[in-house]
Amino acid sequence: MRPGAGGWYQRFVPVLCNVEGKLVPPEQALVPVLDRGFLYGDSVYEVVRTYGGRPFELERHLLRMERTADRIGLTLPPRSRIEGELQRTLDASGNPESYARIVVTRGEGQFGLAPQLATGLFRMVIIVRPLVLPSEEQYARGIQMAIAKTRRNSPLALDPALKTGNYLNNILALREAVGAGADDAILLDLSGRVTEGTTSNVFFVQRGVVVTPPLALGMLEGITRGVVIEVAREEGLLVREEPHGPEALAAADEVFVSSTLREVMPVTSLVFLESDERTRPVGDGKPGPIAQRLRKAFAKYVAEKHLAR
Ligand code: PDD
Repeated sequence: MRPGAGGWYQRFVPVLCNVEGKLVPPEQALVPVLDRGFLYGDSVYEVVRTYGGRPFELERHLLRMERTADRIGLTLPPRSRIEGELQRTLDASGNPESYARIVVTRGEGQFGLAPQLATGLFRMVIIVRPLVLPSEEQYARGIQMAIAKTRRNSPLALDPALKTGNYLNNILALREAVGAGADDAILLDLSGRVTEGTTSNVFFVQRGVVVTPPLALGMLEGITRGVVIEVAREEGLLVREEPHGPEALAAADEVFVSSTLREVMPVTSLVFLESDERTRPVGDGKPGPIAQRLRKAFAKYVAEKHLAR
C-alpha cells in the first residue's frame, strides 16, 4: 500500500469520494440539489483507471476533459488541482488498483436553465473505488451486444464527442439491450451507421482488416480506441476508419469493443432489436484471433509505455 491516510477508508469504505477537496465515504458525499450537474447533467466527466497504482493515459483523459469543457463553456479547476486531488484520493483509498471518476459540474446558483445563473465557477467531485474488471471467463466467452433502436444523438444536437454528465441517450440504449437479455448496446446514427457502444468504441475485422467507425459520425474519441489503433498498426495490421451499417458487423469475422475498463473485449453475438430480434453469432461465435492479439498488444503497450516508466 502506498503511504497516506489509506488504511481506514480501505477497511471500512471501499468507495471513497472527494467532494470539493474533502475526502468522505459515499454516504457523506453530498452535493446540493441545485447543482446543475444534478438538475441538468450540466457537467463533464472522465473515467480513468490505474495500472501499477498510477492513472493510465491521464494526460489524454485531461485533454479530452478540457476539450469537452471548452465546447460547453464550463470552467475547469486548474489542471494541477485536478491531478493533485486525484492523486490525494487515490493515495487515501489505499486500493492496489483503482477506478476513478472525475466529475466537474457547472456548480449551482439561482434555479433556472441559463448557464450564467451558476454563481461559483464549478464543483469538482472525484469518486474512487477498487478496480473491478471483467473476468477472464468473460474474455473467453465474449459479450453479446444488441443493436439498439435508440439512435445516437446527432453531433448537431448533443455531440457524442463531448463527455458530459448527460448520458440518457446511452442509458436508453442500454435499457433496450438489458431488456433483450444482451450485455450492452451498440448505437447507430440517424442514417443507420454504426457509431459506438454505450460506454465503448466498436471495431470489426473483415478479411484481416481492422475497421472502426470514423469519429466524424459522432462518438466519443475513446482513449483506448486511440491506443488500439496505434498498437494494431504497430502489429502490422491494416486499420481503416470507415462508416458501415450494422450488416457489416453481422458479416464480420470478428467484432470487439474497446474501453478503459474492458480494454479489448470480444463481441461474440449480436441481437438486432430493430429487425427480427434474432441472435446471430459473430463468426464462429468465439473470440477471434485478432481481438486476442490486440488485447495482448494493448497489455504490452501498458507494460512498456506506462508500467516501465
Ligand atoms: N466510458 N464511448 C462512450 C460513450 C464512452 O462513455 C466511453 C468510455 C468510450 C470509451 O472511451 P475510453 O476508451 O476513453 O474509456 C466510448 C467510460 C469508461 C465510462 O463512462 O465509464
